[in-house]
Amino acid sequence: MIEAEKLTKYYDKVAAIEDVSFTVEKGEIVGFLGPNGAGKTTTMRILTGFLPPSSGTARVAGHDILTNSLQVRRRIGYLPEAVPLYTDMKVAAYLEFVAEVKGLERRERRRSIGEIMEKCRIVDVQRMLIGSLSRGYRQRVGIAQALLNNPEVLILDEPTVGLDPKQIIEIRQLIKELSGQSTIILSTHILPEVSMVCQRVIIINNGHIIAVDTPENLTARLQSSAKLLLTVDGPVGQVEEALTQLPGVLRVEPRDEARDATVSFVVESERSRDLRRDVSRLIVDRGWGLLELRPADMTLEEIFIRLVTEEHQEVQ
Ligand SMILES: Nc1ncnc2c1ncn2[C@@H]1O[C@H](COP(=O)(O)OP(=O)(O)O)[C@@H](O)[C@H]1O
Ligand SMILES: [Mg+2]
Repeated sequence: MIEAEKLTKYYDKVAAIEDVSFTVEKGEIVGFLGPNGAGKTTTMRILTGFLPPSSGTARVAGHDILTNSLQVRRRIGYLPEAVPLYTDMKVAAYLEFVAEVKGLERRERRRSIGEIMEKCRIVDVQRMLIGSLSRGYRQRVGIAQALLNNPEVLILDEPTVGLDPKQIIEIRQLIKELSGQSTIILSTHILPEVSMVCQRVIIINNGHIIAVDTPENLTARLQSSAKLLLTVDGPVGQVEEALTQLPGVLRVEPRDEARDATVSFVVESERSRDLRRDVSRLIVDRGWGLLELRPADMTLEEIFIRLVTEEHQEVQ
């Protein structure tokens, strides 16, 4: 549904993105994750057919963005980073206006606007001025206008940025609901967002794609070692020493000491070894209290930091 092929964009002499290639399958919801300035907006604007790349190309909904940008624009819905909403227009009138610009027939317009307002839960505010709406509602109106031509592909640039926590949850929910109908690519610099909303993640940094995978696979792929989180009631030094000497253990790292004198450790072992039995037996045999023992998975955040640092080292 989206095939980006070596997209490169120079602003003056500086490359904002370089050799960006990826595909998004029909019906997928893909997260474009990267820090500010990574090149997310640039890539998305190129995909919409509005910004020409310096080199490379892309096919979106079956059409080439260079040779057939009009067809591309007809088949996509785009929520730009800063939504250019007309603040002195009422919601329904604005949607009517966008529908007309997008070339929807008059009869079709009414029906489609009604449906979309319901889907985006803005029926109640349809007669209000856009300028008087909260950010959360404005973002819904922004998504509603993107949906007006019943697009095959939805391109959402940081759809939750600037919203309060409740609004963020609601917008994420709305995006999830839309995922059955359109292929969606959304950008974010918020790490938990991708694992909550997306089936696949494209990580971009400094204009380069550094990883493409499912959130689960990214976690698995980058875990060269397995980690256990352990809370023990016992003397810190002795516990640490005993754990370190256990076969298969690579590293033991004491965590913060709790108020009740119990100590938490992160025990790192080879990935293929499950040390839970050995660890629990050791603690119990020594007469200490085993209060907690569970796998400590690496968060996407840690992965991201690692990816970015690795990329950085490669460049140097
Ligand atoms: N119109 C522009 N002119 C010059 N540089 C730009 C322009 N737009 C973006 N850039 C630069 O390109 C890089 C990528 O920006 P952008 O695509 O907006 O990243 P993101 O959306 O991930 O924050 C940044 O270094 C940014 O400063
Ligand atoms: Mg951006």
